[in-house]
Amino acid sequence: MKQDMIVVLDLGSEENPRIAREIRALGVYSEIHPHDITLEQLKALPNVKGIILNGGPNRVVDGVEIDVSQEIYDCDIPALLVDHRGDDPWPADDAQQEAALKNFIFTICGAEANWNMDNFIADQVELIRRQVGDRKVLLALSGGVDSSVVAALLIKAIGKQLTCVHVNHGLLRKGEPEQVVKVFRDEMDANLVYVDAVDRFLDKLAGVDDPEQKRKIIGGEFIRVFEEEARKLDGIEFLGQGTIYPDIIESGTKTVKAVKSHHNVGGLPEDLNFELVEPLKMLFKDEVRSCGKALGLPDSMVYRQPFPGPGLGVRCLGAITRDRLEAVRESDAILREEFAKNGLEGKVWQYFTAIPDLKSVGVRDNRRVDEWCVIIRAVNTVDAMTATVENVPFELLQHITQRITGEVKGVNRVLFDLTPKPTGTIEWE
Ligand code: XMP
Repeated sequence: MKQDMIVVLDLGSEENPRIAREIRALGVYSEIHPHDITLEQLKALPNVKGIILNGGPNRVVDGVEIDVSQEIYDCDIPALLVDHRGDDPWPADDAQQEAALKNFIFTICGAEANWNMDNFIADQVELIRRQVGDRKVLLALSGGVDSSVVAALLIKAIGKQLTCVHVNHGLLRKGEPEQVVKVFRDEMDANLVYVDAVDRFLDKLAGVDDPEQKRKIIGGEFIRVFEEEARKLDGIEFLGQGTIYPDIIESGTKTVKAVKSHHNVGGLPEDLNFELVEPLKMLFKDEVRSCGKALGLPDSMVYRQPFPGPGLGVRCLGAITRDRLEAVRESDAILREEFAKNGLEGKVWQYFTAIPDLKSVGVRDNRRVDEWCVIIRAVNTVDAMTATVENVPFELLQHITQRITGEVKGVNRVLFDLTPKPTGTIEWE
């Protein structure tokens, strides 16, 4: 193993992720594990140089104060107790805390500052090979950041023992399915099963206008298609998953209640009976991106803006029709191209178009035309709970309007959404 590790044991502090990040910022890899880890499990982790026991307000679970087992207190790995109950000497100010942390990590534990992406990748490759042996892994590859980075890592570790399944449900952005095939099949020489399920999804969605129903159909159908593909393949024992650390935090740990349940396409049924391979589960989003970059994935894949699991399905408002879906896809492509050309890509957090189920009268070549309108949304946010509207230059909006009404079939108007969140959500449905 290339890198030393400091393990944070979770005794109910909400600061655990921050502490792990601080340790990583000092150049030492850190992972958070539940308080009830056994000594055997702890010893099985690679290169553990020290343990931080981090207690906090959630230390009492169901009326009982949780603690780590005595065998861990008694073992030979140095331990530091960071506790916010007020009865210990942990310094209050940040500079002193950092000094205490450094003293513990480097002087007491003798850890080396050798955490970097290359070492992380080398370690994960070794761990994946150890877990998987000569057996086979299946991965649902959506083309999103997390699944793409897992795919690249698994390809590096086990090559053709991985089979990626890319389900094109017809609700992806322009060029995305093609990019997945190009990057993974052509450039990385992966086993990639490309499933064209466009008709199947659009037929199921025909006439359905309730947003939650649409999401359910898209999520449910995705699972069915993926399962069918999985059953066609022989001898698969593992399922790769792009779980990242924020997913784990949001789903709740033993001491932290769930923030939200997962509603992403890609949630797979448990009865498939696979063992999971989740090499990114301890990485924060920015680290996942660095990992992807270090593995040679293109910037357009690694730095792409957030995109909802149900995709363009929630931007083609109301009942999805093929013509309106195409208009969403084309207008979104124009918006992305213009934002990239004008230095807004990477600056604006999320931007896209949506098309309501509404036509208005217009003129084209001296004739009256009833056509769709396109709504442009461009927002900035830190956590997606609230959002502000990007101040897009008026001339650029005019130019984009001209392009969309000129190039996108069936669209005669463009609107700019000025609404922050609240009161508007980021998506329109
Ligand atoms: P809202 O619209 O709730 O969106 O302000 C907040 C963020 O979540 C994304 N979003 C989704 N992501 N499945 C997802 O994976 C969904 O059903 C979904 N709905 C909204 C949205 O794009 C924004 O980034």
